[in-house]
Amino acid sequence: MDQDSKKTAVGRAAAAEVPDGCRLGVGTGSTVNRFIDALAERGVALACVVSSSEATTTRLQGHGIAVSDLNSTGDLDLYIDGADEIDGAGHMIKGGGGALTREKIVAAASRRFICIVDDSKVVRVLGDFPLPVEVIPMARSYVARQMVKLGGLPEYREGFVTDNGNVILDVRHLDIVDPVRLEDRINSIPGVVTVGIFGHQKAHLTLAATDDGVRRIEY
Ligand code: 5RP
Repeated sequence: MDQDSKKTAVGRAAAAEVPDGCRLGVGTGSTVNRFIDALAERGVALACVVSSSEATTTRLQGHGIAVSDLNSTGDLDLYIDGADEIDGAGHMIKGGGGALTREKIVAAASRRFICIVDDSKVVRVLGDFPLPVEVIPMARSYVARQMVKLGGLPEYREGFVTDNGNVILDVRHLDIVDPVRLEDRINSIPGVVTVGIFGHQKAHLTLAATDDGVRRIEY
């Protein structure tokens, strides 16, 4: 099965996990787009929907799905999002699409996180995928130097501005053996808005599309 078909399959499987009356958070990315399409097709009656990016908001609204402000909804039942890598415990690298900060906020406000990926993203140790770090623009060079001190190779994502008006450093060569510890360490650097390690906000269930169908991995 090609990657495109896997995204469609896992998007459909995720839509089947959303019950009527759900207070739903929606992530960002090409896999999530398939989920949104499948959700609209199923016609689930949702209590409210909170989006993690402008791109996701546009897609939801394009299907006639109203988007609520997290400040007015309170906590959510379920968050569904993709990932760039996910390890055996449900820790993730996210932010390939640059929406990591809002994604982490909506994930934190949700009781349950379902991660939707194709099986190539399930890894033993996080870190092959360059780790995105959202940074306040004036702190870009300072934060980059701190990344080098941690053993990383930061690269400025040229021409990209996040929905929050910030920039992204993509950091290679980090061996993320203790995701929660590294998440805390990078998040404590002044100028960092958030790092794309989802160690605290890990997944509760992963739906991973394989050649033989969608595999469920519970943590
Ligand atoms: C966006 C993300 C995405 O979830 C991640 O990049 C995966 O995207 P895709 O489904 O397009 O591969 O974290 O910030």
